[in-house]
Amino acid sequence: MSSPDMPSVCTVELGQRTYPIYIEREVLSRLGSLCREAGLAGRALLVSDHTVAGHYGAAAAAALQAAGYAVATVTVPPGETSKSHEQLLAVYDAALAGGLDRAAFIVALGGGVVGDLAGYAAATYLRGVAYVQAPTSLLAMVDSSVGGKTGVNLPQGKNLIGSFHQPALVLADTATLQTLSTREFCSGLAEVVKYGVIADPEILDRLEGTTPEALQQDDRGLAGLIRRSCEIKADVVRQDEREGGLRAVLNFGHTLGHAIEQVGGYGACLHGEAIAIGMVFAARLSERLKDFPADETERLIRVLRGLQLPVDRPDLPWSALMAAMQRDKKKKAGTVGFVLAEKPGTVAIGCPVSDDVLEAVWNGMPPAPTA
Ligand code: NAD
Ligand code: GLY
Repeated sequence: MSSPDMPSVCTVELGQRTYPIYIEREVLSRLGSLCREAGLAGRALLVSDHTVAGHYGAAAAAALQAAGYAVATVTVPPGETSKSHEQLLAVYDAALAGGLDRAAFIVALGGGVVGDLAGYAAATYLRGVAYVQAPTSLLAMVDSSVGGKTGVNLPQGKNLIGSFHQPALVLADTATLQTLSTREFCSGLAEVVKYGVIADPEILDRLEGTTPEALQQDDRGLAGLIRRSCEIKADVVRQDEREGGLRAVLNFGHTLGHAIEQVGGYGACLHGEAIAIGMVFAARLSERLKDFPADETERLIRVLRGLQLPVDRPDLPWSALMAAMQRDKKKKAGTVGFVLAEKPGTVAIGCPVSDDVLEAVWNGMPPAPTA
C-alpha cells in the first residue's frame, strides 16, 4: 500500500480533462494559488453548508482573494435535503448576483452533499463552468469529490438529476477532518474498506486492529489511506468515466446499502453505515456464488466492527428492501446485477442473484441488537 511519505498528489488521467488531487494538511491555505496553477481565471463562487462554512469558509475565501480572485459565497443548510432544486436555484442566484460569467468557476467546500450540488450547478450554469472540489468529509475525500458524478435529488428518489462533470482540481485538506464528528468519520471509513475489498487487501491489513480515534489522530497514516483510495478510484474512472461497465465495481455493497438508506429514511442510517451492512451482505452472497472464503467475510466483519460500523441486519421489512433494489435495477435498465467478491481484491460485476438466495442470505444475517 502507499506509504504516507509518498507525494501527496495523485492524478485522474482523462486526456485534456486530467486533474490533480492534492491530499495534504492545510492545503486549503493554497486554494487560490492552486486554482491559478490550474489556469482558473475570472470570479469564484464559494459554495458550502452552514457547518463547514462556519469552520473553513473565511479561510477558503481569504485564500482565493489572496490570489486575486473576486469571491462570492453561498451557503446551504447541512444535510441531504440540500441536494434539491431549491438549493440549486440558490446557487444559480448567487452566481448571477456575483457576476459569474463563463470564465468563472465554482468551489465546492464541504462534504458530498455540497460537492454534488455545487458540481451540478457548475455543470449547468451558463451551459457549464469549471469547478473545484474542496472536500471536508472523509467520504467526500475518498469518494464523492473524485470522478465527476454530480447531481441533485428529486422527491421521487436520490440522484435522479445529474451530470458527469469533472472538476479542475481536488484539494483534500486532512486538517479539516479534526472537526468532523466521529460518526461521519466512520461513515467515510466504510468506503475505504470497500477499496480494500475491491482492489487492495493491504488496506484491510492497515485497518484491522485500529480504531477510528487512532486513525483520526494519525494524519500521515490517514493521508496514505485517502491517497490509496483516490488512486484506486482514479484508476477505475480513467478506464470507465461514465459507468459503461467497470465503474460499477465501486458499487460493491451499494445495492442493498442504497435500499437500506431509502427504506430506513435518509439520515437514519448514514451512507457509509448502510454500505457497511451492504458489504457484509454482498460478501455472504459471494460465499455462495463465487466461493469467496467465509473467513474473509469474517475478517471484513471484524474490520467494520472495529471501525464502529454496523454489520447486522437492521429491522427493516425485506419486501420493502427488495422493492427498493428492483427500482434501482430498473433505473439502470435492468442490466446491473450484484457486485460480488471472488477473492480479496477482486470482484465481478453484473452478477445475477435469484430472489430466493437474496432472501436466504438476508435471513441468515444476525439481527441488529435493539437500542
Ligand atoms: P454531507 O455532505 O452531508 O456531510 C456530512 C455532515 O458532515 C454534514 O452535516 C456536514 O455539514 C458535516 N461536515 C462535513 N465536513 C465537515 C468538517 N470538516 N467538519 C465538521 N463537519 C463537517 O455528507 P457526506 O457523507 O460527505 O456525503 C454524502 C453525499 O455524497 C450523499 O448525497 C451521496 O449521494 C453523495 N455521494 C456522491 C458520490 C459521487 O460520486 N458524486 C459518491 C458517494 C456519495
Ligand atoms: N461512488 C460511485 C462512483 O463514483 O461511481
